[in-house]
Amino acid sequence: MTRHIPVLLDEAIEAMDLQKGDTAVDATLGGGGHTRAILSHVLPGGRVVAFDADERAIGRFRRSAEADAGLREAMEKGSLTVVGENFSRIAETLRSLGVEQADAILADFGFSSDQIDDAERGFSFRADGPLDMRLDGRTERTAADIVNGWDDEALAKLFREYGDEPKAWKIAQAIVARRGEKPFTRTAELAETVSGCFSDVERRKMGIHPATKVFQAIRIEVNGELSAIGTFLREGISVLGKGGRIAVITFHSGEDALVKRMFAEMSRGCVCPAEFPKCVCGRKAVIRTLSPKFIVPSAKEISENPRSRSAKLRVAEKL
Ligand SMILES: C[S@@+](CC[C@H](N)C(=O)[O-])C[C@H]1O[C@@H](n2cnc3c(N)ncnc32)[C@H](O)[C@@H]1O
Repeated sequence: MTRHIPVLLDEAIEAMDLQKGDTAVDATLGGGGHTRAILSHVLPGGRVVAFDADERAIGRFRRSAEADAGLREAMEKGSLTVVGENFSRIAETLRSLGVEQADAILADFGFSSDQIDDAERGFSFRADGPLDMRLDGRTERTAADIVNGWDDEALAKLFREYGDEPKAWKIAQAIVARRGEKPFTRTAELAETVSGCFSDVERRKMGIHPATKVFQAIRIEVNGELSAIGTFLREGISVLGKGGRIAVITFHSGEDALVKRMFAEMSRGCVCPAEFPKCVCGRKAVIRTLSPKFIVPSAKEISENPRSRSAKLRVAEKL
C-alpha cells in the first residue's frame, strides 16, 4: 500500500487533455496515483507506460496492483507497462517497447512519501537511518560521501543552489567542524548538526524541519536530479506527437527554473534580426507553453496535503 497522495491530480489530468485510445507516459510512477487516473482516461483502447528508477517503488506498485483487478488486467493485456528505468532514458525505452510516439507525458518530480518515510533509505531527517539517499542502488556515491568529503565552499554552494538555504555558509562550516571529530554516518547526526545552526525562535517560526532544505539539496546532488530532468525534457518532447502535451510538476525553485528555461528555449522560433528580409537561422519553435504560466495547488489541497505546498505545474504542447 502507498501512503503517497498524488499532487495536483485533477489539474494535471486536465492539462494532459487525454482521449480514449491515447498513448500516455507517466515518467514518475511512485505510488501510482497519477498512473491510475491517466489509465482511466485512456482506456479502452489506450496505453500507459510508467517509469520509476527506484526498484522498490516498482515492487510496491506491482504488489498493490495484484490486489486491484483493473490494474492487473491492464498489465496482463499490455495496456499498462511499468519499467524500472530512469526517465532520462525515455526515448530509447519507449522505442524498445515499440512506442514511437506519445500523446501525453506527465512528470511529478522528487520523491514519494513512501521513500521519505522509509528511514533505511536515508532521506529522512525525522527518522534515523544510514546517510545514503540513493534512488538507484547502482549509483556509487552516497550522501555520506558528499557530507564527509566536500569542502565548506562546495557544501555551501550546494545548499544555496539546490536548497535555497539562507544559512548555507554557517551550516557548511558546522558540518566541517563536526566531521573533524567523527565522520557522519547517520541522518540523525546530520539533522542535529543542521538544526544546531538555528536558534529556538528561528526553529519555531520555520514551519518545516530546519534540515529540510539541506537534505533536499544533498538528495538532488546524489541522484543527479537536475541533469536527468534536462535530458528527460528534451527527449520527452522529441517523442511527443503533434498536439501532444507534456505536464511537469516541480517542487523547488531549481527544478522549476530549469523547466521554465527549457520550455522558453524550445518555444522560441526564428532569432534573426528584424531587418533580415528572410530567416537564415532556420530555428523553429518545437512547443508552445500553455497558460496560465503555471498552476499551483488550491488552499484546500495544501491544507489536506501540506507536502503539495511548493508544487508548480507547467504545461506545453508539441507543435
Ligand atoms: C513524487 S513521486 C511520484 C508520485 C506519483 N505521481 C504518485 O501519484 O504516486 C516521484 C517518483 O519519481 C521517481 N523518480 C525520481 N527521479 C527519477 C528518475 N530520474 N527517473 C525515474 N524515476 C524517478 C521516484 O523514485 C519517485 O517514486
